[in-house]
Amino acid sequence: MEKRKLGNSDITVTPIAFGAWAIGGLMWGGNDDHDALEAIQVAYDLGITTFDTAPVYGFGHSEELLGKALQGKRDQVQILTKYGLRWDATVGEYHFSLEDEKGNAHKVHRYAGKESLIKECEASLKRLKTDYIDLYQIHWPDNTTPIAETMEAVAQLLQQGKIRAAGVSNYSEEQVKEAQQTVMIASDQVPYSMLNRGIEEELLPYALEAHVSILAYSPLQRGLLTGKITENHQFNAGDTREGNRYFKPENIRSVNRFLEDIKPIADDKQITLAQLAINWTFHQPGITCALVGARNRKQVKENAKAASFTLSQEEMQKINTALEQVHLAL
Ligand SMILES: NC(=O)c1ccc[n+]([C@@H]2O[C@H](COP(=O)([O-])OP(=O)(O)OC[C@H]3O[C@@H](n4cnc5c(N)ncnc54)[C@H](OP(=O)(O)O)[C@@H]3O)[C@@H](O)[C@H]2O)c1
Repeated sequence: MEKRKLGNSDITVTPIAFGAWAIGGLMWGGNDDHDALEAIQVAYDLGITTFDTAPVYGFGHSEELLGKALQGKRDQVQILTKYGLRWDATVGEYHFSLEDEKGNAHKVHRYAGKESLIKECEASLKRLKTDYIDLYQIHWPDNTTPIAETMEAVAQLLQQGKIRAAGVSNYSEEQVKEAQQTVMIASDQVPYSMLNRGIEEELLPYALEAHVSILAYSPLQRGLLTGKITENHQFNAGDTREGNRYFKPENIRSVNRFLEDIKPIADDKQITLAQLAINWTFHQPGITCALVGARNRKQVKENAKAASFTLSQEEMQKINTALEQVHLAL
């Protein structure tokens, strides 16, 4: 698979990365470890070398699965993980509540104080069974810690060789600029899909100018853009897509009408709607990588093939025109 440069760093990533949130299970109605390990292996076999995870995904479980599956492949892969969401301490700013698989409620806090992230980094390295992380990203902004303090700790980790590059996630243009004053920021990981294009106004033009890579998360809008979601879709217990604003019945109807409109393009090219949505995403200006979640071998196989075709300008134009008709109630 093609490799792309990550911001101004010396790291290259594949335009499709394996997103390891869902395999953590929590918030996604559970997971199957065997399927998850197989999915990671298949991703690697099909040329995906970039893997994105976070400590909070399954409260460490997603990182552990990646650590296990990527043994013996370390120098061939790029591991992207995060810090700054603590479920094990009451620190910083309350973010949301989350039940573990035993039904115990945990309050997740945004916190990126210096000592905290140094400690988090050690825990991630252990779970990932590695001695360095390629890209270390603050998961969400922490309004209780000065950005400079957080980034000084990141600079220390860079100097120690525990991380290769600094990234941020869910940061605004202003926040990226502030972080850049302390350390070079290689990337900002933010939501971006055919249905969620908010960053095009401000963040994207700045990122292009400043050579900050945009890593697009939820490019399938959490499965909605695969066409498999109908109004009566039954999610497993604990799947937070139930009640998510994109999954309101009127939005599902509107998205499925749009998918019907673009299906002839997919049929012509003998590709699926998921492949079309992923390819569209990583070909938008400024988007270095689409982080695509997958739970099993079948999904990864389908998603990896999104890198094996090119959409013509005319096809892109048709998709963009059809997108203009989508009006979501969010
Ligand atoms: N930084 C952040 O705050 C943040 C937030 C969200 C995500 N992320 C990152 O971005 C990654 C991807 O985002 P995401 O997982 O939210 O959403 P996504 O990639 O848009 O959707 C992934 C989900 O869609 C379904 N799916 C995937 N491929 C499919 C296929 N070929 N056919 C049918 N269904 C398919 C699977 O769920 P089902 O099988 O259950 O339907 C899968 O878990 C995450 O794993 C994570 O690494 C980061």
